[in-house]
Amino acid sequence: MRIVVLTGAGISAESGVPTFRGKGGLWRRYDPKDLATPEAFERDPKLVWEWYDWRRGLIAKAEPSEAHKILAKLEKEKDLWVITQNVDGLHQRAGSKRVVELHGNIWRVRCVSCGVRYYDHRVPLEEIPPRCKECGGLLRPDVVWFGEALPQEALERAYELSLSAEIFLAVGTSAQVYPAAELPLIAKRSGAKLVEINPEETPLTPHADVSIRTGASEGLRRFFYTIIDGEGD
Ligand code: APR
Repeated sequence: MRIVVLTGAGISAESGVPTFRGKGGLWRRYDPKDLATPEAFERDPKLVWEWYDWRRGLIAKAEPSEAHKILAKLEKEKDLWVITQNVDGLHQRAGSKRVVELHGNIWRVRCVSCGVRYYDHRVPLEEIPPRCKECGGLLRPDVVWFGEALPQEALERAYELSLSAEIFLAVGTSAQVYPAAELPLIAKRSGAKLVEINPEETPLTPHADVSIRTGASEGLRRFFYTIIDGEGD
């Protein structure tokens, strides 16, 4: 039985990484247009990199939550895949291997001059904005900004997984950003059971077969260790 889990910032909230929307969300304190767009970067790469350096510092100190660890453990026992909107790499740090990153990864950088991509885990960055180790050009975070296309391969894999899911869980996402927010509906339309785990209601709630109104760790514990294992799978 294929289980596909779409995760959002909420699964990392329990690791101490701020979400974007909802209570205490980042976008309540910063305007996305000032920080997470190609235009913002063009206008002021230093400001954008100061924000990403701060977020990288937060994430470097964060530990995978119980929710990340449950998914990493279940991946060994079930045909389970993670599609994440998060760029923090916490699923991989928890041990998950089958992870599709829709919005890139905050630890990867890309040179705007020569196009090279590589991981740079320096915290804090010695120079802001950082320069390409190959050509000395300007580096940018290898993440998807508002108005940018998602990585084609990741998006295609995410559609394939959503179409083949028998159970689709949406965990810790406000389901407001497309095309990620479309994936649970694609899964449902092709016959999957749709399960939402989120302390708040979202636009997905009316479509969910099961809506678990808790945090990610509690919700995944409940779902996998009572609903699924309780009935045997
Ligand atoms: N457990 C589960 N969900 C939680 C928790 C928790 N402990 N705490 C908060 N949430 C929920 C909130 O209720 C909210 O619905 O997590 C969701 C976080 O929503 P967003 O902050 O909008 O994050 P996300 O849905 O991942 O945003 C999608 O928007 O800004 C872009 O690229 C960015 O990937 C991001 C995308």
